[in-house]
Amino acid sequence: MTLTRLDVVPDREVRVRAPGKVNLSLRVGPRRRDGYHPLSTVFQAVSVHEDVVATPSTDFRLTVSGPQSELVPTDGTNLAVRAARALAARAGIDEGVHLHLHKGVPVAGGMAGGSADAAAALVACDALWHTGLSRDDLLELAADLGSDVPFSLTGHTAVGSGRGDLLTPVLARGEFHWAFAVQDRGLSTAAVYARFDELAGDDARDPDPQDDLALMQALLAGDATALGAALHNDLQPAALTLDPALAEPLEVAEDAGALGAVVSGSGPTVAALARSRQHALVLAAAFTAAGVADAVLTAVGPVAGTRVVSGADQA
Ligand code: C5P
Repeated sequence: MTLTRLDVVPDREVRVRAPGKVNLSLRVGPRRRDGYHPLSTVFQAVSVHEDVVATPSTDFRLTVSGPQSELVPTDGTNLAVRAARALAARAGIDEGVHLHLHKGVPVAGGMAGGSADAAAALVACDALWHTGLSRDDLLELAADLGSDVPFSLTGHTAVGSGRGDLLTPVLARGEFHWAFAVQDRGLSTAAVYARFDELAGDDARDPDPQDDLALMQALLAGDATALGAALHNDLQPAALTLDPALAEPLEVAEDAGALGAVVSGSGPTVAALARSRQHALVLAAAFTAAGVADAVLTAVGPVAGTRVVSGADQA
């Protein structure tokens, strides 16, 4: 029998890419009644990515590859699976999906890798199932899944308020170059916030944390030196008491001439701002030579949010 072109119908497949992030500034207020903390944070999406492939399936299945993939749960607790299920329920879809995640963002590293997976799953399944939901619907689902998931969708540079899920775009010029010191041991976000609460009584916290003017000006001017000086993270002392060895990559970055270095989000990844792409490689090499990181990454920011790479138009 001769096969014609029409006999060979490829499986539907949607490929999506979602970025990790670094918090350029993270200001945290006292714990709210619901257990969350009010934030004023400036997110920047960076060119460290999660690549997700979604294919039709009768059930919800997850496979994972890439660095640290053995640390990722593949059952229903995985945020990407929860995202796919939430989207199916919201859109009345009676199908499953096989999601394959290729990890590029450190696991439990403070760079929103799990949030990127959730954002990627939302965008991939939305394209696969043609749900017809609006961007705002997806953002709402994203916020329900986790505080950082809306930013993973939108990318670029943005101020996050509320618990980090209410976003306002920020005008940023130019490109910034980063080196990251990655650890195999993760830090639990909830544990870091709990330590933050222990370190100072609620009275000492500003209930309405404000944006950082110097940081905004540095972004507007595309001034990496000023940005380096303005990097700030209220969670850093808490992360350092839970993992004192994090002082080492911070020191190495400073000694190697970083424009600034900060624990990324709730850690333990340390982000160092470089003068150039070349200098980012120098910083990464300094982390490796000093033995203060299990892995190193270099990246540029800001980059776009979660986007379909291929397969959106197949039905
Ligand atoms: O929203 P997400 O599930 O990512 O948050 C994980 C944990 O981090 C929360 O359970 C909470 O303990 C803490 N958190 C917080 N305040 C925020 C964001 C997260 O206390 N604004």
